[in-house]
Amino acid sequence: MTKKPKILAFSGSLREHSLNKRVLKTAISGAENAGAEVTYIDLRDYPMPIYNPDDQEENGMDENALRLQGLLVQHDGFLIASPEYNGSISSALKNVIDWASRPNEQYNRSDVFPGKAAAMITASPGSFGGVRALAHLRGVLTSVGVIVLPKEIAVSFADKMFNGEDGEMADKGMKKILEGLGASLVEMLLKTRQ
Ligand code: FNR
Repeated sequence: MTKKPKILAFSGSLREHSLNKRVLKTAISGAENAGAEVTYIDLRDYPMPIYNPDDQEENGMDENALRLQGLLVQHDGFLIASPEYNGSISSALKNVIDWASRPNEQYNRSDVFPGKAAAMITASPGSFGGVRALAHLRGVLTSVGVIVLPKEIAVSFADKMFNGEDGEMADKGMKKILEGLGASLVEMLLKTRQ
């Protein structure tokens, strides 16, 4: 690939001061420093109903789902940080992936996910860091055809790692690990997407 890899970054948390959004931003800077063009979006700007095939058949694609699908189509890879909710990914993230996986008049299934690459992060105030969500997210992404980076990060005690509610990552070791994940995604895209 000669042009800059394009990465879409989003978190599965809708919370304003989300820990996942904050760890994601650290990984984004690693991807940018490694030469990617990164677009960050907040899923709160793409509210959509719970996916129901009957609704799609009657009314077509939800407008925000279609907007989001358009963005996914335009990017080579994804940087995703999901909270762990009851041992799995957030319902908001699963719903977005379900909507985006549906073919429609504008996009084919093959335009959206298949053959793209993704890196995954989870952050939690708990001691396991949300690691169970990562296994589920890997399964979901794999089933829609995304190649998921073997390296993944679960940030434990994430609430203790920032300078205040909106501050940057204060833990230097974790900052390096997160930036390294962003850089690894870029490296994979440069190797695989000619
Ligand atoms: C949680 N939380 C949580 N944490 C965890 O480590 N394992 C879990 O299974 C759960 N389950 C869970 C369910 C629900 C419904 C909520 C609201 C929360 C706590 C969660 O990690 C914490 O709220 C994080 O701050 C969520 O991530 P964001 O929103 O800060 O990015």
